[in-house]
Amino acid sequence: MSYNLLAGKKGIIFGALDENSIAWKTAERVHEEGGQFVLTNAPIAMRMGQINELAEKTNSQIIPADATSLEDLEKLVDGAMEALGGKIDFVLHSIGMSVNVRKGKAYTDQKYDWTHKGWDVSALSFHKVMQTLYKKDAMNEWGSIVALSYMAAQRVFPDYNDMADNKAYLESIARSFGYFFGKDKKVRVNTISQSPTPTTAGQGVKGFDGFIAYAEKMSPLGNATAMDCANYTVSLFSDLTKRVTLQNLYNDGGFSNTGVSNEVMEAFMKEE
Ligand SMILES: NC(=O)c1ccc[n+]([C@@H]2O[C@H](COP(=O)([O-])OP(=O)(O)OC[C@H]3O[C@@H](n4cnc5c(N)ncnc54)[C@H](O)[C@@H]3O)[C@@H](O)[C@H]2O)c1
Repeated sequence: MSYNLLAGKKGIIFGALDENSIAWKTAERVHEEGGQFVLTNAPIAMRMGQINELAEKTNSQIIPADATSLEDLEKLVDGAMEALGGKIDFVLHSIGMSVNVRKGKAYTDQKYDWTHKGWDVSALSFHKVMQTLYKKDAMNEWGSIVALSYMAAQRVFPDYNDMADNKAYLESIARSFGYFFGKDKKVRVNTISQSPTPTTAGQGVKGFDGFIAYAEKMSPLGNATAMDCANYTVSLFSDLTKRVTLQNLYNDGGFSNTGVSNEVMEAFMKEE
């Protein structure tokens, strides 16, 4: 169902790799709501992914950019304003990657070059994206910037590894940069803390199947899907949430405030 919430709005969507990606679903929903955007991803992901299909479907242009490269980001922001014919109203940062996770290194046995790389891609890139937009004065007033996080920023999930620290840093950047973006440009900045979701990045986490099944049983409304996340993001890009900023917003079916559920209790009850 479409509400035309984003008619006339222009944006940039990072991170659509394949149809499971949260960014892919968001691009489809934003398109349905009347928004126009440029799609971007790392040049290497372009070769692996199916982004052309999404671009065709949503009538959008693709501009490759490694989100850790300021040079790429500058070209992206200039290119997006040219392609869209003006300043930007919304940006989705949907990027995450840990080399330690990928290569099976435990949190207690980090290879720090890899830790550094993962932090640059998953956390610092958010600062780089915003600083590029800010310096170029590329955002329209009442624009909205969203990045995706996970609750391991607040609570321990042992196999989430160094991504937990990256997410804590990402959420802090949203607050710190959000202050300046709010004061100086009337732009809001938030993170959405999403349930475990079966995507390429999600499934890379060790024990993901257990992780997602446990969260499902612990959440009164069940896990939020990629489509739920896309819908929530649309609301944050729309004019209906103009003064929501500096927030980390849970889209998790209630998981984050649930101590225990009956289903999980049952698994631990002794026969009486
Ligand atoms: N899947 C989950 O369980 C889950 C839960 C909470 C939050 N998130 C977050 O959601 C976001 C999107 O992930 P997803 O689950 O849709 O997985 P995904 O694998 O589909 O998306 C991750 C994207 O990051 C991109 N990327 C990696 N390195 C990059 C770089 N240097 N420059 C630009 N792009 C780069 C990848 O190409 C890919 O498109 C991530 O921030 C992730 O941490 C995911």
